[in-house]
Amino acid sequence: MRALVRETHVEPSQFILPLFVCPGEGVRREIGSMPDNYQLSIDELVKECVEVNALGIGGVILFGLPETKDEMASGAYDDNGIVQRAIRAVRRETPELLVVTDVCNCEYTSHGHCGYIIDGDVDNDTTLQWLAKSALSHARAGAHMVAPSDMMDGRVWAIRQALDANGYEKIPVMSYAAKFASVFYGPFREAAESTPQFGDRRSYQMDPANGREAMREIEQDLQEGADIIMVKPALAYLDLIRQARDRFDVPIAAYQVSGEYAMIVAAARNGWIDQERAMLETLTSITRAGASIILTYFAKAAARVLG
Ligand code: PBG
Repeated sequence: MRALVRETHVEPSQFILPLFVCPGEGVRREIGSMPDNYQLSIDELVKECVEVNALGIGGVILFGLPETKDEMASGAYDDNGIVQRAIRAVRRETPELLVVTDVCNCEYTSHGHCGYIIDGDVDNDTTLQWLAKSALSHARAGAHMVAPSDMMDGRVWAIRQALDANGYEKIPVMSYAAKFASVFYGPFREAAESTPQFGDRRSYQMDPANGREAMREIEQDLQEGADIIMVKPALAYLDLIRQARDRFDVPIAAYQVSGEYAMIVAAARNGWIDQERAMLETLTSITRAGASIILTYFAKAAARVLG
């Protein structure tokens, strides 16, 4: 009876699993603050993707840890960069698995910021060129969809132009449209080795206090050509997922970020909370709020339970 009258259903096909790809061979390094998540070399990443595919998960989103970082984020838009090579390997091995790429510079810059630095701050418009080049190189390598997470103004338009001009007009853009300057990204920055070396990201990511501004950011990204929009983090911003759902007739994604994952797992490891129930309850509430796509580090665990 309960199942019959249930309003919200969560399915593995809604999930996108974030994966971190690093140099080397046979590397499978667990991330301290994100148990059961790993930095994976390309060969290990491919194995992981075979498993993800078998679980019926909607797709993966790839983050790269380059061999070297520099001020120009060269590794981000190198056709032979870590993510570009990873895409080709995954597409070869599991052609039917959806491969999304995160388009950003912070993993590739020596200073850990998301763009080119002038006078101690990120220069928006120079950064747009890097983002467009990165998105294009991901598409060329075989990515199905690109997801800019940098929060520069005008990046969706810049990426759309670059893709269209090069024959990739069918590649959609999933925009991290309402992305907040959140404390909950802490564990990710350990995983992706992308902690800013000075300052913080508040000059380009949003103030957690601003919901109306979030709607304006989403609207702007849609005007620039975004196909899917994302709210990030998820749990502390359920109201904005709901507002976006009511306002915009496009698919809405939410990112249950590293800190959200870490809190649940840490509490569970202390015996203070039931991990499986907390996982399912949060995924259900994110879906109920209006997200049809969830980026989550729980993707595999949840798929096993829901399978
Ligand atoms: C890159 C990026 C970040 C996350 C996704 N893409 C980190 C940041 O903005 O500092 C965070 C994801 C997570 O915490 O799980 N800009």
